[in-house]
Amino acid sequence: MADDSAFAPGFFARQDESDDRDFYAAPRLVVHIDDATISALTAAYRELLPRDGDLLDLMSSWVSHLPADVEYGRVAVLGMNAQELAANPRASDRVVHDLNAEPELPFEPDSFDAVVNAVSIQYLTRPVEVFRSVARVLRPGGIHAVAMSHRCFPTTAVRAWHVLPPRERIDVVGTYFREAGGYEDPEVLDRSPQGADPLWIVTARRTT
Ligand SMILES: C[S@@+](CC[C@H](N)C(=O)[O-])C[C@H]1O[C@@H](n2cnc3c(N)ncnc32)[C@H](O)[C@@H]1O
Repeated sequence: MADDSAFAPGFFARQDESDDRDFYAAPRLVVHIDDATISALTAAYRELLPRDGDLLDLMSSWVSHLPADVEYGRVAVLGMNAQELAANPRASDRVVHDLNAEPELPFEPDSFDAVVNAVSIQYLTRPVEVFRSVARVLRPGGIHAVAMSHRCFPTTAVRAWHVLPPRERIDVVGTYFREAGGYEDPEVLDRSPQGADPLWIVTARRTT
């Protein structure tokens, strides 16, 4: 199977190649996109994520952007900072886990109906391995939704995010899905609100 070596040399290089645990040692209890963009993401989650389903929020923090009035089953959150995850009111279980050090997810196969990843894909240095592991933990037909905007922590985003325009970054995420395998064809939703940070969501369902 292909892996991240399918991309050009330097594609995943970062200005700051030090251990991610150092960068994320202090909690950042902030939001990373405009309020209107958060509302658009929440509205998209309302459509895409199954009520009562078991969810995994990857690269999570203190907010998961889920609709407040919708009940889900398990809401597992995985990120780098324990204090951020502890402050997440939607979480039913919390895991501190560095996906760049260990792309394999610490969950059993077929555990989730949906996996979401909000405004963080640019920090993954081994995304194809992570996407393959997401397919493993998703149930057949389950959805993997990757929400992207245009802000980033510049020193920890991969080089490709600095050199590619947004349209090509969206295509790159589609390539992550295809290289990983185990997914139906990816689809792209443009839910960018007027006058606020843009929002593109690339989704693919696990093959049945
Ligand atoms: C821009 S914040 C986004 C947080 C949240 N998803 C949101 O929508 O506000 C980036 C998040 O990616 C997570 N992250 C960054 N590098 C990671 C890594 N190597 N492994 C796992 N999570 C990581 C951090 O914990 C951080 O919370």
